[in-house]
Amino acid sequence: MEKRFWWERDDLCYVDGRLSFAGHDVSTLAQQTAGPLYLYSADRITANLQRLTRALEQTGSAHQIYYAMKANRFEPLLDMVARTGLCGVDICSPGELDRALTSGFAPQQISFTGTGVSNADLDRLLQQPGVHINCDSIGMIRRIGERRPGSSIGIRVNPAMGTGYDESEKLTYSGNGTTKFGIYREQWDEALAVAHKYGLTVDTLHFHVGCGYLSGQLGQWERAVEACALFLKDLPDVTTVNIGGGLGLPHRADDAPLDFDQWADILARHIGNKSPYLGLTIAVEPGDFIVKDAGMLILSVGDVEMKRDTLFAYVNGGFNLAPEPAFYDLPCEPAACILPADNDPLVAVTIAGNINEALDIWAKDHPMPKLAEGDHIAFINAGGYASAMASNHCMRGEATERLL
Ligand SMILES: Cc1ncc(COP(=O)(O)O)c(C=O)c1O
Repeated sequence: MEKRFWWERDDLCYVDGRLSFAGHDVSTLAQQTAGPLYLYSADRITANLQRLTRALEQTGSAHQIYYAMKANRFEPLLDMVARTGLCGVDICSPGELDRALTSGFAPQQISFTGTGVSNADLDRLLQQPGVHINCDSIGMIRRIGERRPGSSIGIRVNPAMGTGYDESEKLTYSGNGTTKFGIYREQWDEALAVAHKYGLTVDTLHFHVGCGYLSGQLGQWERAVEACALFLKDLPDVTTVNIGGGLGLPHRADDAPLDFDQWADILARHIGNKSPYLGLTIAVEPGDFIVKDAGMLILSVGDVEMKRDTLFAYVNGGFNLAPEPAFYDLPCEPAACILPADNDPLVAVTIAGNINEALDIWAKDHPMPKLAEGDHIAFINAGGYASAMASNHCMRGEATERLL
């Protein structure tokens, strides 16, 4: 396949100048739907789960994937993920518990890691004894102990080290500054004492130190993994290390995909079969890696106008439909659904949404074919944290989702 754009791959590419995704002509699908349209590819999701399974096999350890449904909880998609049989599910709220159960995940396939967990949350979670709970605070350990003494729990630790896409501070969950997540080394003894007081068995060590890391961040990530592994020596009953999510994918032309050989080797050396801790299961709970590049958002151009020296194309959806580009500088790169037949040169276009906020810009001076009213644009990498984080800001939240 001859690639014209960095993001093209076998199931996402131009065929005779028309954008094709999961074997469908995107422009044709867009014309069948009024308003913004999210498209998701079931095959790509399965392929991502399989790629991750192969990477975990390289660690030489027993392994388990929990799909982080916070990334995308569209029912048909979640039902499909459950049917693959390739993973369990990571949840972070009672609402997500209900949705996971309805989608066909058994309680034993569900792992909870949440923050700001109230007694009301706990009471609902504990109604499903098979669900595994990772504790984010000492208070949470105590409150589980009071409600269910003698049970098994996981503890989320904070190694004061982490990383995220492009070392972004906003995407780093553990680092120099104090964050709200997990239990720090300074409070570790107290956490263990509380678990002991209620006869709780700590069977899982959990950490999640940031989102979107790629190969360039693996050095920092390894230091965080190493720091987390130090907690293991105090956990005689531990069976599982849950390394969280955060596995990144390319968002820009110069991003290389995560190097799974290196990734698996780090795990093998610190918690797997090349480490002092033999026989542990490695669990991982990614959201983005599974669904983000398996989805796109299709918007149509409503207006094209030159303002000073900038050519604007305005589309019928804004950052409220995919907040990550605006919040985290994680772009959803625009791709024209139809390229001009005559190989006209691309022009620099600034693509703006329909929300009354200055930050509502999809891309600045982006090379695109000449656009006209009614043209469709696909915003790639909108499978994760787009519809799931969408809002009705300016009452422009309506959109259709479709699983292909
Ligand atoms: C505890 C936990 N696990 C997993 C995830 C999923 O992260 P990602 O989608 O980056 O893989 C998150 C995301 O914030 C998280 O907080």
